[in-house]
Amino acid sequence: MNHAILEKNIGLMAVLVAVVIAIGGLVEIVPLMFQAQVIDPAPGLKPYPPLELAGRDVYVREGCYNCHSQMIRTLASEVQRYGHYSVAGESVYDRPFQWGSKRTGPDLARVGGRYSDDWQRVHLTNPRDVVPESNMPGFPWLAGNKLSADDITAHMRGLARLGDPYTKADFDGVAAAVEGKTEMDALIAYLQGLGKFGPKETQP
Ligand code: HEC
Repeated sequence: MNHAILEKNIGLMAVLVAVVIAIGGLVEIVPLMFQAQVIDPAPGLKPYPPLELAGRDVYVREGCYNCHSQMIRTLASEVQRYGHYSVAGESVYDRPFQWGSKRTGPDLARVGGRYSDDWQRVHLTNPRDVVPESNMPGFPWLAGNKLSADDITAHMRGLARLGDPYTKADFDGVAAAVEGKTEMDALIAYLQGLGKFGPKETQP
């Protein structure tokens, strides 16, 4: 009987449909706000050191994310290939995060330490020198671009404003950390740090 009223009154039905959908949304969203592990940094995680931060900027500027994700999914095939699946606490200092889903190349979330610095340098300069079938573009000019300590300090100050716990010592150390370094050095430092604070076991 009551249901007949509802079915004949489309305005009322639209309002009630919206209410039901809103409840569904709340049930999914509200728990996230109280779930500490979504926002707690992974154990040992610190904001990016100056050189790695500069490398991260190069990564974003050069569009590496167009071909590489940084998010290992909870699937057996992914975990076997790349290591423990990604957890939210690893990305708390990533602004913007680089999770992505486009994979022309492999996921890079745990690539840190997989190759030597020298391999990375050769590969980034001309990928086909180490992986003949690669279709990744080379980025040889990065080795000719010097870093600016002022730019990096400004970036760190911006992140500190957003809540990243940089200390005075971090700011004082920027000039020494990037002295004489190139964008290539920075990008390699960034890549070698990827996955450093992730869960250690390969089989979750
Ligand atoms: C057009 C797509 C494309 C772009 C853009 C690209 N890559 Fe790649 N990348 C690939 C492919 C394909 C591979 C696999 C073949 C190889 O190792 O070269 C790869 C492999 C890699 C590897 C080795 C990963 C592993 O586990 O073996 C690293 C590290 C890497 N890329 C870093 C980068 C960085 C840093 C950038 C940006 C400066 C970048 N790539 C841009 C396609 C791309």
